[in-house]
Amino acid sequence: MLLTREEMTFDFGDAKLDPTRDRELLEWMLNQFLYGEVTGIQCGHWLYDAPDFEAAKFLARQGLEEMQHVDNFLRIMTMLGCHPKPAHPAVRFLATGMMGGSWAEHVALEMAQGEGFVLNAFYAVIDTLDHKPSVDILRRAVKQEERHVEFGEQQTAKAIEGKPWLRRRLLGLSLVSMWGVRRLAKFMEKRLPPDHVVLKHLPAFLDHSNRCAEIRLRRIGVLDRPLAELSGAKRAALVAEAYGGKLVGGLGSLVMLPLRILPFWPKKKRLTDTYLSDVHITGYALPAGDPQAQPQEP
Ligand SMILES: [Fe+2]
Ligand SMILES: [Fe+2]
Repeated sequence: MLLTREEMTFDFGDAKLDPTRDRELLEWMLNQFLYGEVTGIQCGHWLYDAPDFEAAKFLARQGLEEMQHVDNFLRIMTMLGCHPKPAHPAVRFLATGMMGGSWAEHVALEMAQGEGFVLNAFYAVIDTLDHKPSVDILRRAVKQEERHVEFGEQQTAKAIEGKPWLRRRLLGLSLVSMWGVRRLAKFMEKRLPPDHVVLKHLPAFLDHSNRCAEIRLRRIGVLDRPLAELSGAKRAALVAEAYGGKLVGGLGSLVMLPLRILPFWPKKKRLTDTYLSDVHITGYALPAGDPQAQPQEP
């Protein structure tokens, strides 16, 4: 990876998340992660679009890992007494609404940037959650997430070689996802208790995550100067150019759009829409013999 664990670590001091006191907060957080892992189904789409055999093998394996991560979160939630609930709209926008329109957009936006943000959050939970069985599960999963981010970084660097227009488009789209993270931060600041030992660090933590994203963009080569040197007008132009390119590329979908918004036009429901009522989620139980499994009533 282009950033080290140390660079991505945020210093929460001695602040800890308590599994009992902070159950409601943990449930909210874990549900955002659960949704993110379910979006791993997108690996199937990109496997079909893989540019070479190595990439295809990587995505096939990643798809399996993301589905295992769904089970990891179900296990952690069950151990902590948390229940599966819908994810916040900003998370759904970042993970599904911004789904890439091309291989380059996928590896840059979802893998390098998106999974990079997730990695920041996983490290933060590992460093603060006072529940060893959950932290142990996350420590194992985080190794796989690091590989996903690294693959995204390498593939993005390869994709933009000799294509300044693509570099600009990926930068414009990255700015939108950084805006999404700031929007999420605003929501959390408003809704969550500001005097909480861990949460009081949240605005600074989200700034730190955006800074990590900026460093990653620079090291990949998508960004050639500090973001602060890009004026508001320049940023707006980059976003407009990126979305303009997407519109031209997606003219076919635009033609279909009027049909799709008609009430009788069936919208394809995917697992990201239905997972909360899927029997795998609703019927999840800790494996028999699991030391964390609650003894059953006779
Ligand atoms: Fe994952
Ligand atoms: Fe991942």
